[in-house]
Amino acid sequence: MINPNKSLSLSIMSGKGGVGKSNLALNLCFALFDQGLTSLLMDCDLGLANLDVLLGVTPDKNLQDLLRDIEDPRDVVVQIEKGGFDFLPAASGVPELVEMDEDMQDVLFKKIMQLLEGYEMLVLDLGAGINSTALAFASMTQLRMIVVTPEPTSLTDSYAMMKVLSTEHGVNDFLVVVNMATNKAEAMTPFDRLDGACRNFLGIEPRFLGYITLDPKVPDAVRHQTPLLRHAPSCKASLDIINLAKVFLRYRKDNLEAISKRPVLKNFPSL
Ligand SMILES: Nc1ncnc2c1ncn2[C@@H]1O[C@H](COP(=O)(O)OP(=O)(O)O)[C@@H](O)[C@H]1O
Ligand SMILES: [Mg+2]
Repeated sequence: MINPNKSLSLSIMSGKGGVGKSNLALNLCFALFDQGLTSLLMDCDLGLANLDVLLGVTPDKNLQDLLRDIEDPRDVVVQIEKGGFDFLPAASGVPELVEMDEDMQDVLFKKIMQLLEGYEMLVLDLGAGINSTALAFASMTQLRMIVVTPEPTSLTDSYAMMKVLSTEHGVNDFLVVVNMATNKAEAMTPFDRLDGACRNFLGIEPRFLGYITLDPKVPDAVRHQTPLLRHAPSCKASLDIINLAKVFLRYRKDNLEAISKRPVLKNFPSL
């Protein structure tokens, strides 16, 4: 029997930085919330955390406090939307968190497991690239969304990350989102190239989930420190993200049984 309310975990990752992961992560959580799905959004860009700035909140506790022996891990969680969208802030500028050793990851994820009850999604906003923390997080979650842009460097870096995850961590399933495309055709070209390379050289078939239009309202929302879906809910990029959330919800529903067979966080069985 599958519990439809059980948490599913999703990493949002990219080969290259600055492709729009953090904006996608937080706005996707808003879109999922608006469509009735609860989530806990965790800032996992441990060196350069910035979700708090994008959300316009100033948390007084963060992951560093979670790693210390605080009484209740729930004290670190910030409520973004009452009734089902919460945020777990990271600490910025703490070098020892960036390349976390396995013992530290162990402590952190045991605490996260204690927090998961009641959320249908755990969304991890990762730092870019092939660093050990990003790879560990990306291979731990049940699902992965890789964000690419039409820039050739984004494609090569994404491919490199998928290759390491596939050949060294046995991770072969990727949901691809193309960001900053001017239209559908411009979004499909990078996907087709990535898809071709993955099929030919890695024997894996990434899945195209959708695309988000290049839209000046996104940097505008960042400047206002207001999430795009609240700042400009009917701009093109917002509508794309709302649509992406719908596609994701269908994917989640159709694959829930198979996905639920994997642990929410690999190597961290439910406590
Ligand atoms: N769809 C988009 N259209 C226009 N600008 C975007 C879009 N998505 C992201 N950006 C801009 O790209 C920059 C990087 O976004 P961010 O979410 O911080 O990327 P990452 O987390 O991958 O480093 C931000 O300045 C943001 O305003
Ligand atoms: Mg980011």
